[in-house]
Amino acid sequence: MSTPLNIGMIGYGFMGRAHSNAYRQVSQFYKLEHRPVLKACCARNAEKIKAFADNWGYESYETDWRKLIDRKDIDVIDIGSPNNTHREIVLAAAERGKMILCEKPLAMNAAEAEEMCKAVEKAGVANMVWFNYRRVPAISLARQVVDEGRIGRPFHYRATYLQDWTIAEDVPQGGAALWRLDLAVAGSGVTGDLLAHSIDTAEWLNGPIRRVTAATETFVKERMHVETGKKQSVGIDDACMFLAVFANGSMGTFESTRYARGRKNYNTFELNGERGSVFFDLEDPHILQYFKHADPKTGAKIESHLTGWQRINVTNFEHPYMDKWWVPGCTIGYEHTFTNALADFLIGLQTGKPAQPDFRSGLRTQKVCDAVLASGKSGRWVDIE
Ligand SMILES: NC(=O)c1ccc[n+]([C@@H]2O[C@H](COP(=O)([O-])OP(=O)(O)OC[C@H]3O[C@@H](n4cnc5c(N)ncnc54)[C@H](O)[C@@H]3O)[C@@H](O)[C@H]2O)c1
Repeated sequence: MSTPLNIGMIGYGFMGRAHSNAYRQVSQFYKLEHRPVLKACCARNAEKIKAFADNWGYESYETDWRKLIDRKDIDVIDIGSPNNTHREIVLAAAERGKMILCEKPLAMNAAEAEEMCKAVEKAGVANMVWFNYRRVPAISLARQVVDEGRIGRPFHYRATYLQDWTIAEDVPQGGAALWRLDLAVAGSGVTGDLLAHSIDTAEWLNGPIRRVTAATETFVKERMHVETGKKQSVGIDDACMFLAVFANGSMGTFESTRYARGRKNYNTFELNGERGSVFFDLEDPHILQYFKHADPKTGAKIESHLTGWQRINVTNFEHPYMDKWWVPGCTIGYEHTFTNALADFLIGLQTGKPAQPDFRSGLRTQKVCDAVLASGKSGRWVDIE
């Protein structure tokens, strides 16, 4: 018999839907001690949150997150609301002893993230940041390839995260739909929104980043603000590129923009080492490309007439997470990365080995984001502790 785990979901938008779907699926595909129950969801607009609750099968709804947190029948607070709400909700939820799942970026900046980290650690509550891309099976396989020593000494890490939806000058900023363009709500532009993912993946695969130097750009300097109806200056970074030096001595380049015409969610990375390389592209999500130069155990070189990039279709039972889904050759989608992440969180509860990335790991990413933004302003290299 599984134990019910009562969920309180904040936000009914993109992530509210992705997470709700995961809560509904996870117990069917994973055998777990805890069974999520869609107890309540929350957003400020009563009509919309009621419709969301009806659609996804939540037992009840609230229009004030404080009421949700005060409820004794809620075990887990899940934060799927914009970045400027995360801190206050986390501090209040930790104080009331709730487990907390928070969307990325964990906070508006590292100072906030530090406070949130201390709050959950002091309260001793389980916590996780939804860096769901770690749970793309092909990305998890990349991590396995690294752990197996198949990359060997790493030299280069290269990441891009490109989109194209803010090119038009008449796209406004702010409001319910376009809060990502409003610095006061988002905290930053592509750095916190997109590069946070790239940084989390990079540090997971290749260890900590020690130093960065960055350049940021805001291509459209003024946009109409939805709330005031007036043109206001744009404070976010529309594009960001940075160079990084990793603690292991390898070098990294990172590029992100919402002005790459034709690129919708082009999230890629490549890691090049002495013995091999891996390459991943989210627009080709089931494939991990691997180049084998030498045997990981003996170091013996592959005969050069047989070398070449392998396109591994990551759908076998032996691949990360894939034994929980379909038969080899049948793919899974974007939404399953949230289900896999949730399963890891629940496995963490039952084994006592907390799932990663927890808030402390989210704080790391936030420190790198802060360093990138500071360097973007100063034009200097910035060290990360
Ligand atoms: N893991 C990922 O890949 C990923 C993808 C998209 C968004 N995100 C993150 O998820 C969070 C939400 O993004 P989204 O795309 O779902 O946004 P969204 O605009 O689609 O949805 C935000 C939701 O929050 C609600 N909300 C806003 N203020 C609120 C408040 N004070 N109290 C209660 N509810 C409130 C809104 O009503 C809405 O339902 C952000 O932190 C974002 O960075 C992560």
